[in-house]
Amino acid sequence: MNLTHIEHLGIAVKSLDEAIPYYEKVLGLKCYNIEEVADQKVRTAFFKIGQTKLELLEPTCPESTIAGFIEKRGEGIHHIAFATDDVASCLAEAEEKGVRLIDKAPRGGAEGLKIAFLHPKSTMGVLTELCMK
Ligand code: CO
Repeated sequence: MNLTHIEHLGIAVKSLDEAIPYYEKVLGLKCYNIEEVADQKVRTAFFKIGQTKLELLEPTCPESTIAGFIEKRGEGIHHIAFATDDVASCLAEAEEKGVRLIDKAPRGGAEGLKIAFLHPKSTMGVLTELCMK
């Protein structure tokens, strides 16, 4: 699998309005984009540090998987996203090596990326996203 860098960390928060001031006023990062991803039932806020982004995820309804995550485990790191130039071949390789896939094929994510997730049951508890431009 050819992964080039950590594209972003996904962080589950109850409220973007409460979380963004911490990242801006304490850590000194700048929120450069807020985007709702309707099919994932989240609102996302993006920060950039070096070539890595932080993606804050706020649930937009109680049925959102992010709402379920916060309910079960509280706010915090939700997933790690690796950049690659070929998500489909990464998925094929992972599946061949016995990793359970959440997505069988790449789908559209925030910021126009093509994304797919590996199941945390197969990755020692770390929800893993593969993404490409
Ligand atoms: Co993500």
